[in-house]
Amino acid sequence: MTDTTKFWAVVPAAGVGKRMNADRPKQYLLLAGKTVLEQTLLRLLQADVFSAISVAISVEDPYWPELEVASHEKIITAPGGKERADSVLSGLKSICAMASDDDWVLVHDAARPCLTSSDIHHLINSLVDDEVGGILALSSHDTLKNVQGTSILGTLDRSHIWRALTPQMFRYGMLKNALEAAEGNLAVTDEASALELLGLQPKIVEGRPDNIKITRPEDLALAQFYLEQQ
Ligand code: C5P
Repeated sequence: MTDTTKFWAVVPAAGVGKRMNADRPKQYLLLAGKTVLEQTLLRLLQADVFSAISVAISVEDPYWPELEVASHEKIITAPGGKERADSVLSGLKSICAMASDDDWVLVHDAARPCLTSSDIHHLINSLVDDEVGGILALSSHDTLKNVQGTSILGTLDRSHIWRALTPQMFRYGMLKNALEAAEGNLAVTDEASALELLGLQPKIVEGRPDNIKITRPEDLALAQFYLEQQ
């Protein structure tokens, strides 16, 4: 890494979060006195490593301008896209005039508000000299089944199975190329999968289990508990 290498964050926050059954997208639900999205952005700001944070917001989003953090000097916005990968690509394009191809970008889900500074620094320190980059991930403690309908077809070898978390950290140029090459491919549900399609092998870095993604209503109470514990 050269002294001029910069770090950027991209936060896809343009999803609807249907599984929450709420009256608004899950990133705008309240968690410990702030919205989930504010909690997430405050975690990224606290890490004190990013030159800027680009947040991809739905073009029909009425909630974002109301947030105090929306006017923070390090935060910019980009129009969200149809799929998560489109929103991330939009976020990358929003910093193209400032970022160099060799700079690092950490992409982090808006719906993961319990990310710690220690995990951000652990990811960066583990990968900063890597050719490709990689992701925070968790090993699986449960036995995993391959299922069709309700019938079990087999048991997976869990020693080879990891759960992909975010942040996912890649070079700006390489990530943008990979997402552009994968445009429209619905199998690309995270950044690593776009690089995998190019034949590259991103690394995993073991993350903390409290870095949960808010997906279902009960996840909010669990996130509140984790924030209090941290
Ligand atoms: O729906 P899911 O939880 O997998 O979404 C992960 C992240 O991607 C969320 O932060 C969500 O707001 C974001 N997203 C997006 N644009 C979309 C779909 C999801 O920014 N079109």
